[in-house]
Amino acid sequence: MSLQRPGGRDVPSVKGRPPEAQEIARVSCVRHFYPDRTQVYICGLDFVLYAGERVVLLGPNGAGKTTLLLHLMGFLRPAEGLVRVFGLEPYRDFERLRRRLGVVFQRVEEQIIGPTVRDDIAFGLLGLGWRRDRAAARVEEIAARLRIEGLLGKIPHYLSYGEQKKVALAGALAGDPELLILDEPFEGLDPRSRGEMARLLLDLNREKGTALLFSTHDPGLVPGLAERVYVMGQGRILASGRPDQVFWDERLLREAGLEPPPLVEVFRPLLDAGLPVGRPLSAGDAVQRLLRAFWAARVGRSGAVAVEPDEE
Ligand SMILES: Nc1ncnc2c1ncn2[C@@H]1O[C@H](COP(=O)(O)OP(=O)(O)O)[C@@H](O)[C@H]1O
Ligand SMILES: [Mg+2]
Repeated sequence: MSLQRPGGRDVPSVKGRPPEAQEIARVSCVRHFYPDRTQVYICGLDFVLYAGERVVLLGPNGAGKTTLLLHLMGFLRPAEGLVRVFGLEPYRDFERLRRRLGVVFQRVEEQIIGPTVRDDIAFGLLGLGWRRDRAAARVEEIAARLRIEGLLGKIPHYLSYGEQKKVALAGALAGDPELLILDEPFEGLDPRSRGEMARLLLDLNREKGTALLFSTHDPGLVPGLAERVYVMGQGRILASGRPDQVFWDERLLREAGLEPPPLVEVFRPLLDAGLPVGRPLSAGDAVQRLLRAFWAARVGRSGAVAVEPDEE
């Protein structure tokens, strides 16, 4: 699959996706006016999401990621353009949509409203008409899954930021959504919490086929999470492609207003110098590639296969 640019084919083709893959969301040239008359116009490529997919929306601060996601979630009304989720118009069909959609806001404190964590996670379920005992059982189940059982009796306001994110995620997952939309879910988390959160979301996607849509401004997060990436910048959806394509496309990243990942900045000069190190996507991958290149160079020089590394 080559990188898709505006003006190209409409339907992004991803290797391995069955041709009948179901489109579950689409955004096409949406214009939004905030109350202070700030205008956000998101055009370029159409944004399309298929059932069960993991998609990242990548762009710098101010690119319009949150605006686009709030339209998909049904919290904003488009002044023009098309927004569809499960065939519904999110702003008009908010009540029907929220049964199938889970959301985690960029500012999680805005969505945590219950007096205790337990109440907060149950809140959405009760709003969907679940009986109290069934909702209570589901809260315990989801809290165990996210390993936040110990927080259930706490007042959300006093939780750490990472804990608040988990509570918001628990609330979003409680209703077993088909699509989970997460706005900058890793922002402000320490590396361990980030890893935990990423593993949990990937497991969820694998086990239940929940479609995941994340936003981030960090290209480094993309390869571990996404099957497909949309790049936003300059008020446009600039491109869509595989994570490895986007990760290594410094020109595209700079066009969007992003810096290439540190790994690319280190490895690009090595590649340019002719070292056969390939294009790693993670630190572990980079180490393996460097070691292979190193041993190949040693073998080449000595003309013999070195089996054991020397003690230095
Ligand atoms: N509530 C708001 N009122 C006025 N302008 C806003 C509001 N929210 C966002 N904007 C503006 O809309 C543009 C896109 O913002 P946003 O969608 O939050 O981008 P991102 O999430 O990519 O950082 C920015 O210029 C931002 O200043
Ligand atoms: Mg944002």
